[in-house]
Amino acid sequence: MLTKEEALLLLQKHDQTHVLKYYDELSEEEQKKLLAQVADLDWDLLSAIEKTNEEEKGEITPLGAVEITEIEERKEEFVEEGLKAIRDGKVGCILLAGGMGTRLGFDRPKGTYPIGVNRDLSIFECLMNNLMEVTDVAGCSVPLYIMTSEKNHVDTVDFFEENNYFGYPEGDVHFFVQDMAPAVDYNGKLLLEEKGRLATSPNGNGGWFTSLHKSGLLDDVHARGVEWLNIFAVDNVLQRIADPAFIGATILSGKESGSKVVRKAAPEERVGVLCAEDGKPSIIEYYEMTEEMSNLRDEQGELTYRFGVILNYLFRVDRLEDIMANHMHVHVVEKKIPFIDEKGELQKPEEPNGYKFETLILDMIHMMDSNLPYEVVREKEFAPVKNLHGVDSVDTARELLKANGVEL
Ligand code: UTP
Repeated sequence: MLTKEEALLLLQKHDQTHVLKYYDELSEEEQKKLLAQVADLDWDLLSAIEKTNEEEKGEITPLGAVEITEIEERKEEFVEEGLKAIRDGKVGCILLAGGMGTRLGFDRPKGTYPIGVNRDLSIFECLMNNLMEVTDVAGCSVPLYIMTSEKNHVDTVDFFEENNYFGYPEGDVHFFVQDMAPAVDYNGKLLLEEKGRLATSPNGNGGWFTSLHKSGLLDDVHARGVEWLNIFAVDNVLQRIADPAFIGATILSGKESGSKVVRKAAPEERVGVLCAEDGKPSIIEYYEMTEEMSNLRDEQGELTYRFGVILNYLFRVDRLEDIMANHMHVHVVEKKIPFIDEKGELQKPEEPNGYKFETLILDMIHMMDSNLPYEVVREKEFAPVKNLHGVDSVDTARELLKANGVEL
């Protein structure tokens, strides 16, 4: 625990003493909390502003995928291998639910969003139903670790409890809380969201394995003998979770990770594309692709870089442990950040006013020596809920759910 004097010295060193501007107005409890926040600050993170966001890329080449026709032909073999791994207790799942879901503009955790129209059906329930389709066939459950953030943890846990874990064995569901990162204005000055509280937000989805470890739940992973973790996002309501064919195909390929991918709808589609970078798997973001690269075609006339990721990955646990200590690239993102102004009043900006810091799971792919891109049918497995209306929205997800026979 820092004293006020120690905190001041530390803040002076980093030219951030304004953080204590309202210190004397705070209650003893609030003062303690603010000092604890200062003590916890990751100063290296703040220095990421000076570095450019775009790191030098290596040599980019295409990465072959297992495509739908091959998957159809080898389905039985893949499913058998995947089900065996599930039944042997080698598979666990990680639900990434720590995001703020700002684009949706829903004030509760995104997973609690009522996606049903005529019946009570939340996004979480949809996901649990998808998972149970697999565990019913396997005849056993798989452990599910849910990552929340300090902003939505209590609401998320309460929701699962109120809904009796949607019929899933409670002992197989565990929650862990991800770390937070501070936010700064355009001059790199830390923002306060209250007079006694630094503005913070979840530190991106790239820190999930470190947070799992910190929470002590990695011991549970080991105790159960889990060898593979399937990581997926909260917002894709058509998500196939612990998909035996995907697991089987990845294991049989001998690769140390797998990624579900969809065929790009058009060269300019805004998705991260799986490729090889200096011979290692890598995801190149749409804004990093040159027009020439996006439009490049192979001998069959297909886009050379045609597979977009959908945030559903499989990682070998021992490899995750190997890379845990590696430094992850910090992405500096412009955002609208509510803050306490000079006069001590709360401002809610309409336009971006500063930066947040995030690490991203897609950067983990490049830390793996090998990855199997596994193609899925977009209309059957990809219905992300990012916005209320328009592209990737509640509206489009509802249409896709209906088309897949889910009663709403
Ligand atoms: P998104 O990139 O869509 O971010 O997350 P978001 O914060 O949920 O939504 P916006 O951008 O504010 O609208 C993709 C997945 O990663 C998780 C999200 O919960 C979602 O499942 N995520 C994101 C985390 O778990 N933690 C984070 O810090 C960020």
